[in-house]
Amino acid sequence: MFLQIAFIFISLGSAFSIEVKIDDGILKGEISENKYGDPFHSFKGIPYAQPPLGDLRFKAPQPIEPWNGVRQADRLGSPCYQYDMFIVPYPPPKGGEDCLYINVYSPNVTTNELYPVMVWIHGGGFVSGRGDEYDPEFLVRKGVVFVTFNYRLEVMGFLSLGTEDIPGNAGMKDQVAALRWVKNNIKHFGGDPENITIFGESAGGASVSYHLISPMTKGLFKRAISQSGTANSWWPNTFRARDRAIQLAREIGCNSTDDKEIYNFFKVQPVEAFLKSRVVVTYAQFAKESPNVYFGIVSEEKFGDNEVFFQGDVYDVLRNGIHDGVDVINGYTEDEGTLYFASGYNISRIFKQANQFLEFYVPEPLTRQVSLLKQLDIGKQMKEYYLKNAVVSRDNIEDLLKYINFEMFVYGALTWQRFVAKNNNNNKIYLYKFGCKTERNIAVNASNDAMELFTERLMVGHADDLPYFFPLGMDVDMNSETYRIIDRATTLWTNFAKYGDPTPIMEMAAVP
Ligand SMILES: *[C@@H]1O[C@H](CO)[C@@H](O)[C@H](O)[C@H]1NC(C)=O
Ligand SMILES: *[C@@H]1O[C@H](CO)[C@@H](O)[C@H](O)[C@H]1NC(C)=O
Ligand SMILES: *[C@@H]1O[C@H](CO)[C@@H](O)[C@H](O)[C@H]1NC(C)=O
Ligand SMILES: *[C@@H]1O[C@H](CO)[C@@H](O)[C@H](O)[C@H]1NC(C)=O
Ligand SMILES: *[C@@H]1O[C@H](CO)[C@@H](O)[C@H](O)[C@H]1NC(C)=O
Repeated sequence: MFLQIAFIFISLGSAFSIEVKIDDGILKGEISENKYGDPFHSFKGIPYAQPPLGDLRFKAPQPIEPWNGVRQADRLGSPCYQYDMFIVPYPPPKGGEDCLYINVYSPNVTTNELYPVMVWIHGGGFVSGRGDEYDPEFLVRKGVVFVTFNYRLEVMGFLSLGTEDIPGNAGMKDQVAALRWVKNNIKHFGGDPENITIFGESAGGASVSYHLISPMTKGLFKRAISQSGTANSWWPNTFRARDRAIQLAREIGCNSTDDKEIYNFFKVQPVEAFLKSRVVVTYAQFAKESPNVYFGIVSEEKFGDNEVFFQGDVYDVLRNGIHDGVDVINGYTEDEGTLYFASGYNISRIFKQANQFLEFYVPEPLTRQVSLLKQLDIGKQMKEYYLKNAVVSRDNIEDLLKYINFEMFVYGALTWQRFVAKNNNNNKIYLYKFGCKTERNIAVNASNDAMELFTERLMVGHADDLPYFFPLGMDVDMNSETYRIIDRATTLWTNFAKYGDPTPIMEMAAVP
């Protein structure tokens, strides 16, 4: 019997606190009120790996040392060092390198019957985001244990020199360490280690999609939801990563071509030196006014006994399907491409490029794979298909948006679905298009440019699904239509976590 005895008591002051014992030691969390449901148990800022400092920078995360006595778990851990790519202009950077913390929210840690577990992987283009932005109130009330965590970002998480010192994918290995932590410890919080669902959005969705094929994650979860991001989209994947690492070293002051010297240089730079590193390696990427992920997931080389998160070509690997028996929901929002216009890029220049260069309409991977003449043909066909050859302006922005939806998100999602369906390893797979429209859809509000561009109708932009699963600081009246939609969305997701089926009762399937 693996249930732990937990002690509930009232501490001095008025807050309720609660203790659990995990493998690493005792944690003291708190009992949190929930205006949308019953109180729940919160444990915040739990370290799941050693701080990746000094010699541990760029390396796979290392297990932590157990602690003696009681560790406070009522305060959030630091976010990983970052700038916020979703607010334009960018606010000052925040966070630090000591950031590998996990948060657990449970309906009841002393339950007799273990709850299903949902582990959230945050998005933010592998440069922004933190687990604890995603509050638990909407999900815990549905009877699941909810977990969030931070992982290393940008250069600290995704630099790759292709050497043993900087192999790449450190941020993904952080995610794996967090998933292993959940598998090993969640029973102490009333969670069922045999009933774990991972889910994530954007870079988090792409991460989920990668965990379905990584050799490091087999057996760590039973179900997965990949929102607005798949492993086979172009943007989560970094090509010529080594060239970028060398280029970055040069840009910030190291001209060496010796791997060890470059590593020693990177290792001692202040974390600030790496912020907003936009290292491109093709002229097309350099010239195009377009958001990009400069440090993402790489195909790793194996060094000694070190674990490899991912090796090979995503499509080749997908040809063997995903982990056996894992069920998946995969999908996107109606107007994903609004992101393109809300990322701080110059919209007049976007229009200018879209009108002047057929290459504008060449899907990113093809800019590396086919000749320029062929690209111009492809661009011509795309422009005919999506724009009917009209001059791009604010008047026909929706046509351009459709192309961008396709190029950045929809193609990846649909192709992923087809590959997994075709190479099915006992997987149930669902596809969705998210179209909820209420005052909670505020993705375009993050940028004045985007807000001025999309005035005709309420958009369902990239990340506009999030406010239906998490409060995100926006209160909602429980008697409103909006709340009914939130209840529906969270019911679908938690049903999937519980039963592997979002609509176990058929009548639910009919409701939009
Ligand atoms: C938690 O579960 C235990 C065991 O089933 C039960 O005794 C206790 O009342 C529950 N606590 C809450 C707050 O529901
Ligand atoms: C690196 O090379 C550039 C170009 O040759 C030179 O201007 C710069 O001073 C060199 N930097 C260092 C740190 O040696
Ligand atoms: C945006 O691009 C237009 C067209 O290229 C240019 O005239 C304008 O100066 C740019 N604005 C900014 C702020 O860079
Ligand atoms: C978002 O922008 C729309 C359109 O300008 C506005 O009506 C709405 O109040 C804004 N929402 C928030 C939360 O700022
Ligand atoms: C997962 O949890 C749900 C809800 O508690 C339960 O009905 C189901 O049997 C569990 N599944 C497994 C495999 O434990």
